[in-house]
Amino acid sequence: MLNPYKIREDFPILKREINDHPLIYFDSAATTQKPKQVIAAIKEFYENCNANVHRAVHTLSQESSELYEDAHEEVAKFINADSMEEIIFLRGTTEAINLVAYAWGLHNLEGGDEVLVTLMEHHSNIVPWEMLSKTNGFQVKYVEVNDDGTLNYESFENAISHKTKIVCLTHVSNVTGFINDVKNVAKTAHEHEALVLVDGAQSVPHFPVDVKDLDVDFFGFSGHKMLAPTGIGALYGKREVLEEMEPFHGGGSMIKEVTFDTMTKRCSSSLNDLPWKFEAGTPNISGGVGLMAAVRYLKDIGMNNVKVHEENLTEHATRRMQECDKVKIYGLKDASLKCGIIPFGVEGLSSHDVALFLDSYGIMVRSGFHCAQPLHEKLKLKASARVSFYIYNTPEEIDRFVEVLREIEQL
Ligand code: ALA
Repeated sequence: MLNPYKIREDFPILKREINDHPLIYFDSAATTQKPKQVIAAIKEFYENCNANVHRAVHTLSQESSELYEDAHEEVAKFINADSMEEIIFLRGTTEAINLVAYAWGLHNLEGGDEVLVTLMEHHSNIVPWEMLSKTNGFQVKYVEVNDDGTLNYESFENAISHKTKIVCLTHVSNVTGFINDVKNVAKTAHEHEALVLVDGAQSVPHFPVDVKDLDVDFFGFSGHKMLAPTGIGALYGKREVLEEMEPFHGGGSMIKEVTFDTMTKRCSSSLNDLPWKFEAGTPNISGGVGLMAAVRYLKDIGMNNVKVHEENLTEHATRRMQECDKVKIYGLKDASLKCGIIPFGVEGLSSHDVALFLDSYGIMVRSGFHCAQPLHEKLKLKASARVSFYIYNTPEEIDRFVEVLREIEQL
């Protein structure tokens, strides 16, 4: 079992008081706090072996290259990829999706093709496809969402056809916390010879993910939502798909050699091996080191324990919030189908007012659209406040939050 009281000791920031109240951090879906083990790994890297990777033969460069490669290995094992060749480090989920759009989509999508996207996506899994469709002329088709925020699988079955080239969906909604049946979607997509891209930003941090079992082609996620620093994340891609793809960015490290032809007066290059073919320029080395420390920290706790803890918190919070007369939880309420996220509103107040009031009591929640405006429109919501939990949250924090909600109700 996971012990959140012991875990809290690893998070220096949780000792803070905000507005004279102990900090209650309920915004982990936006970004998580960082344990001292992750902070120490980054400090140790800069104090003892900082050097650029894959460039020099000197000791420091060898050491930092080894660490950076170990980080890829660690991430590959964490999500059960076949090897580190299938793991590309980049800034986060947004960049992972853009990589797929521009390194795969730009060269494989054309007029007459269709890209399926669900209406519950974060803007980062909508906007790149809409942008690319303007130059490549394919159609972006949207899969419907039910009134409780769950995915409408019938709409998916109706929308997919031989024209579908890729299905893009989130594993877990960042607004409702609803978990999509990605494995089933991937099976249907493959029967239609379409690829599958999954936004795993809200799943990898919260429960065990096995990309081979899900049988998806691309899977992106962000380090900062799973205890690592900002600016580092990963894209998993099936080796055979990545091998066929053009590079994303051009520059150092992604090529083996660049030669100048004196006849044509042009340079040509040969591409580097996976995953470096997709990692042009000096990468975020310390971020990779931090991500490795974060993955090790989560592995020590056990991802099944993380899942159970968050389910218990979600169940407790859902029950307690429903005791409040003027508080409305939006979307599906069954904690076993969700993942540590509850969107809600308080009658007569805007989501920002609710968040500001909670902040005055030291409670951090997000408010607004959470970068998912189409889903809010679909659910007929102007906006929502959102609590999101992680390994360091406790039932007592939820009880305190509900106490403050009751005060807000009196406004
Ligand atoms: N995507 C992040 C969130 O849901 C920022 O808050």
